Amino acid sequence: MSKKRHEELKKVIAEHDYNYYVLDKPTITDYEYDQLFNELLKLEKSDKNLDLSDSPSQRVGGKVLDSFKKVPHRIPMLSLSNSYSPEDIFEFDERIKKFLNTDKEVEYFCELKFDGLSMEIIYENGQLVRALTRGDGAVGEDVTENIKTIKSIPLKLKSSPEILEVRGEVLIFKKDFAELNETQQENGQQTFANPRNAAAGSMRQLDSSIAAARPLKFFGYALGLVEGKTFDTQEHIQEYFASHNIPTALKTNPDLVRLCKGPDAVVAYYHHIEKIRSSLPFDIDGIVIKVNSLRLQDDLGLVARSPRWATAAKFKPEQATTTVESIQIQVGRTGALTPVAIMNPVKVGGVTVTNATLHNQDEINRKDIRVGDTVIIQRAGDVIPEVVSVVLEKRPKNSKPFVMPTECPVCDSPVQKLEGEVVTRCVNPLCIAMVKESLKHFVARRAMNIDKVGDRLSETLVDQKLLTRFSDFYRLTKESILSLDRQGEKSAENIINSIENSKHPTLARFIFALGIRFVGEQTAKLLADHFVNIENFLKATEEQLLEVPEIGPKVAKSIGAWTADLRLVNEVNEMLELGVKITNPVRATEGALSGMSFLITGTLPVKRDDAKDVIEKNGGKILSSVSSKLSYLVVGDDPGSKVDKAQSLGVKIISWEELQKML
Ligand code: IVH
Repeated sequence: MSKKRHEELKKVIAEHDYNYYVLDKPTITDYEYDQLFNELLKLEKSDKNLDLSDSPSQRVGGKVLDSFKKVPHRIPMLSLSNSYSPEDIFEFDERIKKFLNTDKEVEYFCELKFDGLSMEIIYENGQLVRALTRGDGAVGEDVTENIKTIKSIPLKLKSSPEILEVRGEVLIFKKDFAELNETQQENGQQTFANPRNAAAGSMRQLDSSIAAARPLKFFGYALGLVEGKTFDTQEHIQEYFASHNIPTALKTNPDLVRLCKGPDAVVAYYHHIEKIRSSLPFDIDGIVIKVNSLRLQDDLGLVARSPRWATAAKFKPEQATTTVESIQIQVGRTGALTPVAIMNPVKVGGVTVTNATLHNQDEINRKDIRVGDTVIIQRAGDVIPEVVSVVLEKRPKNSKPFVMPTECPVCDSPVQKLEGEVVTRCVNPLCIAMVKESLKHFVARRAMNIDKVGDRLSETLVDQKLLTRFSDFYRLTKESILSLDRQGEKSAENIINSIENSKHPTLARFIFALGIRFVGEQTAKLLADHFVNIENFLKATEEQLLEVPEIGPKVAKSIGAWTADLRLVNEVNEMLELGVKITNPVRATEGALSGMSFLITGTLPVKRDDAKDVIEKNGGKILSSVSSKLSYLVVGDDPGSKVDKAQSLGVKIISWEELQKML
């Protein structure tokens, strides 16, 4: 019975993931989704015989690798010849015709050249079994665990040949990139220069839970090895992908790919894409032109490491020159002060820009950007462009280096820059700039998901003094919203409903929504798992916080400071009184091993998964690496280097038999 329901849930959740992550058209609320997901987790916890290989529960990440395994590609991954000029398209077409010895027009399938990270995803009998980076083209790295966390990539295809190697690009959308960089910046972590770097950096993470927290997307555009199915054309491949829920440009918008007869049509496509380039939600750096017929592709073969049947026509980078009029300071949710260059308006890639983020003082120093400078700016995918460099020859004589203010520009309190951090902060928790940003974070989709209250409305509510703290959301009435300009009966009702619907967050979401510095989504989950309920979390000491896997002194200190602030704790209590009911779907079990953590190395007399089950059933926690937080390393035959590490850290080492005696 549970098997049947399990299969059903896997399928339903996969469909909802597709609606949400690919089509961007969810058909259920997050709450309903979470309920399905929790039911799935519960089933999987109670019945260990269920098939988890294609379960959405496997997408959360958590496996930590020592290194990526090198795996050869069964068919090498080639690169493309490329050019920067549409004229070269005619030459390409000439070469093709000459080689095929024909003067008939050749049919080309034209696509976007995604600016991401190329990837090969291998399905065997419909199951996603492996994913490899391009590497040097012959040998790639096994990043399966990271790829599985990308929700738009199906773990199982509805029907499939024995082997299907899907090639495509992993990327991050511009909007998500901006958000990611903002979070990284707020948390004092490294920011990325562009979406491609962010995507590549995410794929290189050995801890798949980091990749899981990154907004990665995928688009398929080519095949590697296929067994058990034949294709005739490039177009056919795209259609096949689309019909099997593998994300493609074709599926996103049929207008983005084009079947072109002859080079004139290709050039028209090139100009069309160049025009819409800046309005696309992701970065591209050109178009790819492929001979549509796979039979002709075969005839054409290779030149060196590139196919003769395809080429890329790249676009010029979206750069422009302008002058910096002033440098203004923005204050973020955690008080981070971000300098922004206000520039003479200039068109870059079809969009007029006036602002460029300068990140922080270190960045400004590095590039030596000053008010009055002439600068080269670039749209790095992000809506907010970046200053690439300063044209020093044009610097005005009297210019002075920029220095961050010593007072918050919004509330005038003194600012702080801690040693080892790049960020300057306002440390007044009542600074109105921080309040606004915190409230925007609180309502965000991945936090309390109050979807009818956007950034604009949050700001208005703060300006109208209807909102000064989290709990005020639950005091809002239809009448108070109707008192705002431009709010109708229906929309006020929707807003109230949306707030009402947010009253059942999981503990993890709730903790995340509080916006505690350094507590991202993943950390919030670990905290929820560890403390089980909000009361425990709020009274946790720094020592207790340090017991949580992966939480170090910096994060513990930040949480400690938050929970020590009575005003903030009181806020939580008021929300509870106003009807917020926090749930915690994954309850830590009580048992002989409760409070202890374990890691297994070497071969045990029982199957490793069974051993883990025994530990978890008795309340123990499984960790993924040796650290001083590990209570016990359970050692079997032929253990690896983990034993040395455990010894050096003074972690207790026990055998399977000793573990059983503890039960
Ligand atoms: S086809 C024979 N199609 O461009 C090459 N590649 O320089 C097969 N790329 O490493 C690739 N968009 O990462 C193809 N629509 C597209 C592409 C695309 C981006 C990248 C890919 C490859 C590089 C080739």
